[in-house]
Amino acid sequence: MGLPGIGESLAYWRDPDFVVKRLQRFGPVFKTSIFGHKVVFMLGREANRFIFTNQQGAFSSAGGYPGTMAALFGPQAPFLWDEAEHRDLRQVWGALFSPQGMALAVPQIDQICADHAARWQAHTPANWHTAFRHLTMEIMLMLLFGQGVSRSTADLCQLSAAVSRSMSPLLPLHWRTWRWGKAVQARYQLLAEIKQTFQQPKTVLQQDVLARFENDQHGAAGYLLFLLFAGHETLSTMLSSIQTKLADDPEMAAGLQVELAKMAATVDVEQLKRLDQLNRFLWEIERTAPTIDGLFRGVKTPVEFGPFTIPAGWLVGFRTRETHRDQTIYPEPELFDPGRFCPHMQGKPGKFELIGFGGGTHSCPGKSLAHLIMKIVIMHLLR
Ligand code: HEM
Repeated sequence: MGLPGIGESLAYWRDPDFVVKRLQRFGPVFKTSIFGHKVVFMLGREANRFIFTNQQGAFSSAGGYPGTMAALFGPQAPFLWDEAEHRDLRQVWGALFSPQGMALAVPQIDQICADHAARWQAHTPANWHTAFRHLTMEIMLMLLFGQGVSRSTADLCQLSAAVSRSMSPLLPLHWRTWRWGKAVQARYQLLAEIKQTFQQPKTVLQQDVLARFENDQHGAAGYLLFLLFAGHETLSTMLSSIQTKLADDPEMAAGLQVELAKMAATVDVEQLKRLDQLNRFLWEIERTAPTIDGLFRGVKTPVEFGPFTIPAGWLVGFRTRETHRDQTIYPEPELFDPGRFCPHMQGKPGKFELIGFGGGTHSCPGKSLAHLIMKIVIMHLLR
């Protein structure tokens, strides 16, 4: 459990291999103390199944985050709720993630990507991550608010980055730090921008969210801000990993190009879903470059996992990074090999084995949409 008081906080903060070193030393279930929390890390397929299926009703997503996350994302963010309230909040975004919603969105996403690709062709971006931040911000703005946003994309990306820099799933950053102040200010500016979109013609999603919050514009704006953030920050990071891989491996890029060339000129959701080679490529990107290393859930009631009892009030940590490098699931895990997901090998990834979009009732609702967006971007990049 480390030193009295600070536990193992410093090692956790400084050492990217904190978890893997303890995995090697203690095995897949071990305890520690970080930033005042008593934590049990539970690694592997069975542990993921145990946590994601919330066995014995023991785990809480809300209890897995410090209070600062509520201050950054507002009490409306779905990850801060459990049970009935959480189910209710998850219903509100139906218009965005339904098959019909996505079919309507695809031509618009395609148009935004085509415009950006034309610019990239004229001037290769000096920094691809920045280019993808702008692209995904525009896509998210279109999906959530239609045409209603007046502030520049670059401005909004900066504000979102300021919020992102203060995010930590465990560390309760102090209210008075300079970075924290910037994040809170950025949040208020983003909320103000979102509130002014309610004066313009509204998207179906905006109407649904306002109805759910009984026309409380502040609550509705907080909810939409979380959606904006959840889509923009993750997509831009994963697209950067994709771009790096395609640039480093021209043979793989050429293979994907052949599959994409078979598509009809007009992109269509069903066709995009059936791109098997691209699906396997995206799974392997998710495996090797997950956007989060892991997350935590609070323990509500004492729970038994094999020979271990985990007390109420502790946290359990599940790990994307180590699950995705588990040799018993993925032989030669350091190899980038989309072929490992071929039907004659492992086939589709198991839901407790590839967890870059989380799992259980809190799993990412934007996963299918994210896959569509990434496929369209790859199509334009390869063209
Ligand atoms: C590459 C893209 C993305 C990745 C890697 C990603 C990853 C994740 C992860 C790891 C979680 C936490 C799951 C858990 O606690 O078990 C999550 C939750 C969430 N994501 Fe995503 N996400 C992506 C794109 C999106 C998009 C495009 C949207 C929306 C437009 C979105 C909306 C959400 C929401 C609302 C939650 C909270 C769900 C809940 O607590 O019930 N995500 N995502």
